[in-house]
Amino acid sequence: MSNIKGKRKLGKGHYRQVFNFSNTSVLKLAVSKKGIRSNRNEVKVYKHARKKNRKYLGKIKKYGKNYTWILMKKYRSRAKNTEANQIRLKRIIKKLRRNNIKPMDIVARNGKIKRGNVAIYKKRLVIIDYGKFKIRKKK
Ligand SMILES: Nc1ncnc2c1ncn2[C@@H]1O[C@H](COP(=O)(O)OP(=O)(O)O)[C@@H](O)[C@H]1O
Ligand SMILES: [Mg+2]
Repeated sequence: MSNIKGKRKLGKGHYRQVFNFSNTSVLKLAVSKKGIRSNRNEVKVYKHARKKNRKYLGKIKKYGKNYTWILMKKYRSRAKNTEANQIRLKRIIKKLRRNNIKPMDIVARNGKIKRGNVAIYKKRLVIIDYGKFKIRKKK
């Protein structure tokens, strides 16, 4: 991993700082234990997801073995909070649930898409913050 010094900060959530790593990728750096958990959740969920569902999840390219950082594909546009997008996101949530993934933290109580967590890429919604998602364990 090359030094992140001098890399532009693109965003900051509660638990992670996000740096512009290259033209095509961002580095999500954990700033607390919860940040490490979020990075680990994203890696686990991405690996767990069926191939056809992965297109709805920000692509993970690399990660540190202790999950202190992950390298994710960079998404430039955010999803607008239109009714059409809300419906599309609901459909994606259904598909993920059928894949035993429990989506969290992408829709607000009032039904609006949480800003910053959902991108639009090639006309498709892509969830870029799925650090709070859970995988349902089968009994
Ligand atoms: N793959 C990405 N491409 C571009 N920007 C991103 C990407 N992932 C996150 N960001 C930006 O960084 C912010 C914080 O990242 P996020 O994953 O939401 O961290 P947290 O789990 O701390 O909320 C996001 O709101 C978004 O603006
Ligand atoms: Mg976030």
